Amino acid sequence: MSNKKEKNTEYFEANQAHWNKCVLPHAKSDFYDVEGFKKGKTSLNSIELAALGDVKGQSMLHLQCHFGQDSLAWTRMGAKVTGVDFSSTAIELARELNTELALDAEFICTNVYDLKKHLKGQFDIVFTSYGVLGWLPDMDRWAELVAHYLKPGGIFYIVEFHPTYYMIDFDNLQLTYPYFNIEVFKEEVEGSYADRDADITGVEYFWQHSLSEIITALLKNGLQLEQFDEFPYSPYNCFPNMVETSKGKYEVKDHEGNIPLMFELKMKKPL
Ligand SMILES: C[S@@+](CC[C@H](N)C(=O)[O-])C[C@H]1O[C@@H](n2cnc3c(N)ncnc32)[C@H](O)[C@@H]1O
Repeated sequence: MSNKKEKNTEYFEANQAHWNKCVLPHAKSDFYDVEGFKKGKTSLNSIELAALGDVKGQSMLHLQCHFGQDSLAWTRMGAKVTGVDFSSTAIELARELNTELALDAEFICTNVYDLKKHLKGQFDIVFTSYGVLGWLPDMDRWAELVAHYLKPGGIFYIVEFHPTYYMIDFDNLQLTYPYFNIEVFKEEVEGSYADRDADITGVEYFWQHSLSEIITALLKNGLQLEQFDEFPYSPYNCFPNMVETSKGKYEVKDHEGNIPLMFELKMKKPL
C-alpha cells in the first residue's frame, strides 16, 4: 500500500511538472483565447451552461481548474468560486487574471487528494470538466472528496471526455488501452491538445476509468443520480482526425455519430 502511495507521488510529481510546462503555451494559444476571454467572451460551453443554469449567488468548488478561465467565467455569472489545481504556474496565472479582471474568485494550489489540508467548508456546486479524471488514480477517494465538499442538497456536475475514446490511440485510431482501471500508463508527449506544435515535451502518467467505476464511486459516497448523458461530439477540436459536424461540435472523422466522445453526470447530495 505504502509502495503504491509512493509510486503515485512519483506520478503526480511528473504530471505536475508537465502541466506547469503547458500553462504559458496554453495561455498564448488560440484554443484558450485569453484575449477574447479578457474582453468578455465566456470559456464555458453550452452543455455545462445548460446543465447548471443560473449560478448567481451559488458557491462553487471547481476541481482541476487549470489556469482558471472557467472558474472566472462562472464568477462573472455571479457564482462565488474556489478553483483548485496542483499546477503552481496555472494557479499563479488564474490569480493574475482574477486580479486583472477585478473578480473575486479564490484559487488554491494543491493536489485534489490533499485538498482537505487546505480547504474547509461546503459548496452548493462542485464542478469539474474536460480532461480531469485520467490524472487521478483513485475514483473512490476522489468521489469521497466531492461528497465531502457538497452541502446537503448540493449539485455535483462533471462533463468529461468519454472513457471509451481513451481506449484509442488518437493518432492512428487503433484500440490501444484497456477500458478498465488496471494499471498506470506512461506517455512521452510532444505539443499539447491546445497547440499541437507548442514547444512542450515531457512525460505524463494517466489512468483509465470506466463509467461504472466513476458512477459507482459517487453513488457509494451517497450522491443521487439526476442526469447522465453520452455524446458523439466534443465542443473542442482537441484530438487529431476530427471534423466539425455542426457549429462547435467536433466528431471523429469517418465515424460521425458512432463514437462516444463525451459524457455528463449531474448528481445531488441528498438533504
Ligand atoms: C485538461 S486540464 C483541465 C481542463 C479544464 N477544463 C480547462 O481547460 O480549463 C487538467 C488539469 O488538471 C490538473 N491536475 C491534474 N492532476 C491533478 C491533481 N492530482 N490534483 C490537482 N490538479 C490536477 C492539471 O494541472 C490541469 O490543470
